[in-house]
Amino acid sequence: MEHNPLISFDHVWFSYDNEEPSPVYAVKDLSFEVNKGEFLVILGHNGSGKSTIAKLANSIFLPVKGKVTVDGMDTSAPENELEVRKRVGVVFQNPDNQIVASIVEEDVAFGPENLGIAPNEIRERVDDALKAVDMYDRRFHETYRLSGGQKQRVAIAGMIAMRPDCIVLDEPTAMLDPQGRSDVLNTIVSLNKEHGVTIVLITHFMEEAVGADRVMVVNNAEIAAEGTPREIFSRRELLQACGLELPDTAKLCEALKKEGIVMRDDILTEQELIDEIVRIKRA
Ligand SMILES: Nc1ncnc2c1ncn2[C@@H]1O[C@H](COP(=O)(O)OP(=O)(O)OP(=O)(O)O)[C@@H](O)[C@H]1O
Ligand SMILES: [Mg+2]
Repeated sequence: MEHNPLISFDHVWFSYDNEEPSPVYAVKDLSFEVNKGEFLVILGHNGSGKSTIAKLANSIFLPVKGKVTVDGMDTSAPENELEVRKRVGVVFQNPDNQIVASIVEEDVAFGPENLGIAPNEIRERVDDALKAVDMYDRRFHETYRLSGGQKQRVAIAGMIAMRPDCIVLDEPTAMLDPQGRSDVLNTIVSLNKEHGVTIVLITHFMEEAVGADRVMVVNNAEIAAEGTPREIFSRRELLQACGLELPDTAKLCEALKKEGIVMRDDILTEQELIDEIVRIKRA
C-alpha cells in the first residue's frame, strides 16, 4: 500500500477521567496512519481502546496529548470539525441507534440534507448509496420492519450518501445474525474494492480480518502489533497474549492437525482450505 496518509495519529493520548490527578488512559501514545484506499482492520479484546480510536478519528473525541490529522487537518481545531466529519464517517454497533427516519430513503437522505446539499443531488446520492448496499429495492420500506443486517446497511448507506473518503466501522456486525453479518461484510468490502472508499473496520470476528490490507492489534490502550493478516495470524503467542483467537479456517486446520493430518499451517481463507484439502486428497 502506497504511503499516502488520510488519517494520521501522532503520539495520541486520551483519557475519560482527565480531571483525576493520575488519569487512566484509554489510548496511550498511539501513532499510526490510515492510507488512502486502504482496508485496515483493528482487532483487540474488550476495553482495549478500539471505540476510543474510532471516535478520535473523526473528532467526536479530541486527544488530550498528541495530534490526529485528517487529510492534513488537525481535528482539534474547531474550524476543521465540519470538514473532518465530511471526510470520515463512523458507523456504530447498534443499528437501532443510527436509524432516524421511518422510511429507508428518508433515513439515507438525512445526512446529506444536514450538509446542505441541493435536493436533486440528494436524490442521486441516496439512490447511489442504496444501490451500493443493495437496499435500493427496499427504498420505500419502513425502517422498523428491517432485519438488523438490513438496518446496518441502511446506516452505512446514510454514511455513503455524505460521500466521505473514509468510513470507520466500530463492530458493525456484532449484533447481527450470520446472514446479516455476511451481507454487511460484503457491502464493506465492495465499498473499498469497487468504490475506493478507505475502510477502517473494528471487529472481534477474526474472519473479518482475513481479507484486510493490514491488521492492527490493540491491547491495553497500545498498539501490540501491525502487519498483513498472514503475519498477524501466524503469531499465535501474540494473539493469545492479547486475548484473541484464530479465524475459523485456521482453527479447523489446528483441529485437523491434532488428528494427525499433515497440512500447511498458514491457511486463512476458505479457498486456501479447500485447495489444501483437495491437494491432500489427491496426494
Ligand atoms: N464513557 C467512558 N467513561 C469512562 N471510561 C470509559 C468510557 N468508555 C470507555 N472507557 C474505558 O476506556 C477503555 C477503552 O474503552 P473502549 O470503549 O475504547 O474499548 P473497546 O476496545 O472499544 O472495547 P469493546 O470491545 O468492549 O467495545 C476501557 O478501559 C473502558 O473501560
Ligand atoms: Mg468498543
